[in-house]
Amino acid sequence: MAEKKINWFKIADTDAMLPWQDNDMCMVEVDGKTVTLARFKEQLFAFAQKCPHAGGIMSDGYIDATGLIVCPIHRYRFNMQNGRNTSGEGYYLKTYQAERRADGIYIGLEERSFWSL
Ligand code: FES
Repeated sequence: MAEKKINWFKIADTDAMLPWQDNDMCMVEVDGKTVTLARFKEQLFAFAQKCPHAGGIMSDGYIDATGLIVCPIHRYRFNMQNGRNTSGEGYYLKTYQAERRADGIYIGLEERSFWSL
């Protein structure tokens, strides 16, 4: 299968310009899409705004001590890197790329294809 092209969007010049909540998450707009941005041990992660189970707002949850995102509604846990549902319910959290570069914070979205419109 062909690798999907990633389009990168700069969302801020620095971490300090983002609306971080106390739980080290915030919501950002990227190319018309609302994405959750999280930070854990200096690393950035980006993933869907809503939980794949029943639509819980992920940024209202919390990051546990091992770096898993915990949904605020039913407490399902997900790996922020690959979206795997580590508490075993079989869901999959959509994840995106996030990078801290010399000139700012970037989020990478897969290029939209005809089939995903
Ligand atoms: S809505 Fe997220 S675990 Fe149910």
